[in-house]
Amino acid sequence: MALSIAQFTFFTRAASSSFLHRTNARFNHFTFSTPFSTAAATCTRKKNGRLSVLSALELGGVKIARDDVVRDDPTNNVPDSIFSKLGMQLHKRNQHPIGILKNAIYEYFDASYSTKFDKFDDLCPLVSVKQNFDDVLVPADHISRSYNDTYYVDSGTVLRCHTSAHQAELLRDGHTHFLVTGDVYRRDSIDSTHYPVFHQMEGFRVFSPKEWEASALDGTSYAAEDLKKCLEGLARHIFGAVEMRWIDAYFPFTNPSFELEIYFQEKWMEVLGCGVTEQEILRNNGQHDSVAWAFGLGLERLAMVLFDIPDIRLFWTTDERFTSQFTKGKMGIKFKPFSKFPPCYKDMSFWINESFTENNLCEVVRGVAGDLAEEVQLIDNFTNKKGMTSHCYRIAYRSMERSLTDEEINELQRKVREQVETKLNVELR
Ligand code: DAH
Repeated sequence: MALSIAQFTFFTRAASSSFLHRTNARFNHFTFSTPFSTAAATCTRKKNGRLSVLSALELGGVKIARDDVVRDDPTNNVPDSIFSKLGMQLHKRNQHPIGILKNAIYEYFDASYSTKFDKFDDLCPLVSVKQNFDDVLVPADHISRSYNDTYYVDSGTVLRCHTSAHQAELLRDGHTHFLVTGDVYRRDSIDSTHYPVFHQMEGFRVFSPKEWEASALDGTSYAAEDLKKCLEGLARHIFGAVEMRWIDAYFPFTNPSFELEIYFQEKWMEVLGCGVTEQEILRNNGQHDSVAWAFGLGLERLAMVLFDIPDIRLFWTTDERFTSQFTKGKMGIKFKPFSKFPPCYKDMSFWINESFTENNLCEVVRGVAGDLAEEVQLIDNFTNKKGMTSHCYRIAYRSMERSLTDEEINELQRKVREQVETKLNVELR
């Protein structure tokens, strides 16, 4: 298993420079406030199997051309398959499990705080390295900053890898209670719970001194207590009367930090990460005497268990047999699989080189097979006497919608082999 961001100590997921880069300054104007447009960057597969991008993305009246995001240059690692996801905004679809869950969380906050929380769900996913990492105190040498884990548009601009990227700007704009929902992007492995695009919701609440001074508590304890009460209420609103526990955690942006787990379907499940915001973040963004709490949760991971969705790729299907099963405002619906098509397994072995990573392999596989790739699993790994290391991967191909033919799969596998050799510079065995 590759070292994915999911295994970092500070990032939860499905199942996150010092000055604005020039292109990024442009992107920063993309704080969409106009109504949702369904237009997304459209990719089609050409005869030669390559993706060709048909149109630029139009979001809230702002155009992002493919060339703004995907470029053949060493500072860019965004493939067309990712560009095609920009603007899909599953979280804005009221009949989609991701949108239904977002609305249920909104409902809880609106009812508990009489609509005091400002809601943002169309902030541009293109952000500066500063917003994504520096503003939330992610250390300079943190692994999440690597090109192996994050999609870079150029050396100063990324596709946000967490919604925490918006904390600082919203604080600077004077918001003290807010929820940010959005698509986030991480290079990752391929299996039923990992997808390079997923959705998060961030919550943030600032307290002024008079709020905790009236209590017997100091600001930090007051905020931590309020945070726990708020999130336990949220978990009950979403999951019903479940058992819960708090686990101490580490995030660069909060101290103390916690994770909330619930006992659901006979196991403990992590629901979210949260904590009391580091003073430095508040001070840097115009909040001098305050304390605050923050949380971040992955919507796919929760939607998968709530709606019984077995594979994360299903969220992206346009097959009516999936989309027609969900209803606006209804949380209790369980997905009924329309049929299970057989997987087909193909193995490939090669001698790896020093720069080989499993995320790079998965990017090649997704580039060729798209959502037909269900899983990429390392099944054998050895080093010979000369010190050369061989990896054998098993790729599972399966469509959510139809049976694949042998011919089709053989062709996919042929292309994967070819591209693994040329793009990753490894020696096939
Ligand atoms: N940004 C974290 C992630 O992507 C989630 C998170 C944890 C957000 C703690 C927060 C927080 O605001 O306080 O995994």
